[in-house]
Amino acid sequence: MSAGEPKRGPLGGLRAALPEEPADRDPLGSVLPRGGVAGAGGPVAVPDPGGDVTARATCPLGVCDGSGWLIDEEDTARPCECRQRRIERARSSGLKSSLPKRYRGVSFDRPPVSDMARQPGLSATVGAVRRYCETIGEQLDAGHGLWLMGGPGTGKTTLAMLASKAAIDAGRTVAIYSTPALLARIRQTFDAEGGEDGYLAFFDRLVNVDLLHLDDLGAERSTDWVLEQLYAIVDRRYNDERSIVFTTNLEEPELTEQVGSRTVSRLVEMCEGNPLPLFGQDRRVEMAPGTGPAQPS
Ligand SMILES: Nc1ncnc2c1ncn2[C@@H]1O[C@H](COP(=O)(O)OP(=O)(O)O)[C@@H](O)[C@H]1O
Ligand SMILES: [Mg+2]
Repeated sequence: MSAGEPKRGPLGGLRAALPEEPADRDPLGSVLPRGGVAGAGGPVAVPDPGGDVTARATCPLGVCDGSGWLIDEEDTARPCECRQRRIERARSSGLKSSLPKRYRGVSFDRPPVSDMARQPGLSATVGAVRRYCETIGEQLDAGHGLWLMGGPGTGKTTLAMLASKAAIDAGRTVAIYSTPALLARIRQTFDAEGGEDGYLAFFDRLVNVDLLHLDDLGAERSTDWVLEQLYAIVDRRYNDERSIVFTTNLEEPELTEQVGSRTVSRLVEMCEGNPLPLFGQDRRVEMAPGTGPAQPS
């Protein structure tokens, strides 16, 4: 089987019925409290059930528990003063949150996507991505993601960028990284002296955006440290029901070997078990004036 023909994956569509449980997250990406016990004599912090000790956010004002919300005696949630700061920070935070120049004009109505939609091996995948984009608010509120799988130059990043674009256009917070670049960025945070540039602050921003777009998952060099980082990110977002859209050149068994079964198992559930396959030749090579080597995918 060639690299351009992923073996797995009957193309299931996205789950038609979304969970009935109401979304408990506001559009700015903070977790709203589900309940909480009103404390005597004043507001109490609402615990974050998905919290992880190493990654738990802290309130810079020392008022809430880091969730950005407080419950008063009437059982009413009100924002902590730190919340606005968090929102600003998520928006202008050193996360890569805009589309790379090459993909900025991406649209279902223009080539290459309009061409892809007509190609027999790709139309179902384009249709699934379109449905995801058309319902982006519900998808993000439900923590649903997309898993795009295929050989280099088959259009994975292009389709994933459509999802990121839809999220940005809907006013959601997005972080867009190639996986090796994200890991390099995380390494950088270890050189910082904590604070806004430090690991915990960066991790906090990364896990709190509405959509994390990971390009080329599996292209990173696998080490225990890398496995740990990827697991920490995916696990936290899985627990908080926050979406991940990712692309990979690897089929599921190889991806599992590369990033670990705990991480892949969570991604399977978040993406509803359906890698969306992209078939075909490497379009970069086809488009090149001579037959030069393919660019990195
Ligand atoms: N099916 C396709 N038809 C036409 N052009 C395509 C197709 N798939 C990809 N391309 C073009 O090939 C290049 C690589 O696409 P990209 O989405 O970056 O691929 P991948 O992420 O799978 O490596 C882009 O210039 C894109 O416009
Ligand atoms: Mg790519």
